Amino acid sequence: MSQAAGSAPAAKRVTVRSFAQAKARGEPLVMVAAYDALFARLADDGGVDAVLVGDSLGNVVAGLDTTVPVTLDQMIYHGAAARRGTSRALLVVDMPFLTYQVTAERALLNCGRVMQETRCDAVKLEGGTPEAADTVRALVRAGIPVMGHLGFTPQSVHVLGGFRVQGREEDAAQRLVDDARRLEDAGAFAVVLELVPAALARRVTEAVGIPTIGIGAGVGCDGQVLVLADLLGLTDGFAPKFLKRYAALGEETRGAVRRFADEVRARAYPGEEHSF
Ligand code: KIV
Repeated sequence: MSQAAGSAPAAKRVTVRSFAQAKARGEPLVMVAAYDALFARLADDGGVDAVLVGDSLGNVVAGLDTTVPVTLDQMIYHGAAARRGTSRALLVVDMPFLTYQVTAERALLNCGRVMQETRCDAVKLEGGTPEAADTVRALVRAGIPVMGHLGFTPQSVHVLGGFRVQGREEDAAQRLVDDARRLEDAGAFAVVLELVPAALARRVTEAVGIPTIGIGAGVGCDGQVLVLADLLGLTDGFAPKFLKRYAALGEETRGAVRRFADEVRARAYPGEEHSF
């Protein structure tokens, strides 16, 4: 179809193939976690490669302490909303706790539901054990692209004993490298590395052919991910070492709300120009 005169060319959609090509070319990948159409649209306009509907929405928008209580229906609601805000970026939806760990068959049904009901491009699963890799293999065979997630895996926070850097000891570091290789072998198209020493993240990145996307994993990864609300400075209670805030929208928002409240109380808003 020819393009209408004067209109901008439609941006090419990012696909899982684009992820592989980016690694081959040494081009860093950019992902943010966002949970609705409004913020997904802002991220898409900002030129990210991928929007992750992370189950961190449990912490960020639902006010929970962990991601463990997040449900499949909640992920589907948010995933479908984020889809409506995303026209270029790859859309990845997190599978929540116990929706993919029990059996590969249940994982297939649950991931299939997420793909169909949100129209996302891929799902993300935590863990790299042989059982987890078998599930990834079954999903990929069924046509469901999978992003892995290793290092600090928030759904296992109670087993890991808190929000802590993983893989500091050599045996744990080697396990992480093995897990990443296993996920690659099972067909995962990328893997998130969360809270791991920079040297280990680089080692994993060199050991696998799929892109690694780091969060708290140093500069040696193939890409980086942050929660959009964190990088915008909307979540000022959360301040891990890896987080860089690129704006101070929390302060901006409080200030704007205060000015609105002051003007309403002073009957300065609405003015003539806002009235019919
Ligand atoms: O849930 C999430 O936002 C995530 C990212 C931190 C990678 O898994």
